[in-house]
Amino acid sequence: MKVLFLNGPNLNLLGDRQPEVYGRRTLGDIESMLRERAMRRGVEIEFRQSNAEGDLVDWVQQAKGRFDSVVLNAAAYTHTSVALRDAIAATGVPVIEVHLSNIHAREEFRHKSLIAPVCVGQISGFGAFSYILAFEAAVNLKEA
Ligand code: DQA
Repeated sequence: MKVLFLNGPNLNLLGDRQPEVYGRRTLGDIESMLRERAMRRGVEIEFRQSNAEGDLVDWVQQAKGRFDSVVLNAAAYTHTSVALRDAIAATGVPVIEVHLSNIHAREEFRHKSLIAPVCVGQISGFGAFSYILAFEAAVNLKEA
């Protein structure tokens, strides 16, 4: 089983970036936490980050046939990217939307996720633990 983790813009700054909103863990910390859990579960993971919308679109497209599911923190592109939504709809690979913060408890422009309707589900508001919940959701999708 293979799960692809994709992280969008500014998530490379985690740790330093608004820790009161996103916590103190770096993206590297989150990756290590996931690798440890994935190894225990016998799941292969890949973990990527880009600030460029096109990279995320390319990676979602390429996931078809290579990964069982994708865990996607599209960051700000969640709220703006028709291209990313179309890529998810086009590939048919199950995508789990994930956010560190609770996007529904924040500014109004964050309440709308353009990708939510084409994702399996959304996990939002549990800090770094959101990624663990998303990983478990991905494993469950395959096992269910
Ligand atoms: C985020 C929430 C988005 O609204 C924001 O643009 C991000 C991070 C989160 O993980 O909480 O960059 O996706």
